Amino acid sequence: MYFALQFFSERETIGIFETIYQSLMRGGTFLIGDILDIDRLFIYHNKPEWVTAYFDSVKNDTPAVGTWFKKEILVKMAKYVGFSDAAILSQHPDLINSHYRFDLLLTK
Ligand SMILES: C[S@@+](CC[C@H](N)C(=O)[O-])C[C@H]1O[C@@H](n2cnc3c(N)ncnc32)[C@H](O)[C@@H]1O
Repeated sequence: MYFALQFFSERETIGIFETIYQSLMRGGTFLIGDILDIDRLFIYHNKPEWVTAYFDSVKNDTPAVGTWFKKEILVKMAKYVGFSDAAILSQHPDLINSHYRFDLLLTK
């Protein structure tokens, strides 16, 4: 699942994790790629007018980019659902979104 998790809320992401978990065999893995990193929110919105646009979008409940996720929360969420491992993967710096997105490898 690549470049898509931003379209879902945290609540919906728990449901996605549960569906993935039910679909995998023990030891099976699932990669979720290009997740928005909330700790890089202002590395992405790195000009005052973009910060304004970000808060305008939050205020209007029309997020321009989507849901920003905290790495630790996704790892804990995966454990909550039952995954035996959830590894945060940094992207290769040559990838165009690597400065504000990360990957997550789930293992049942
Ligand atoms: C930015 S595109 C990425 C497409 C492709 N995975 C890639 O990496 O090139 C985001 C994808 O998320 C899909 N998507 C958005 N909301 C979805 C939903 N509710 N259910 C299933 N797919 C959804 C879109 O159809 C789109 O294909």
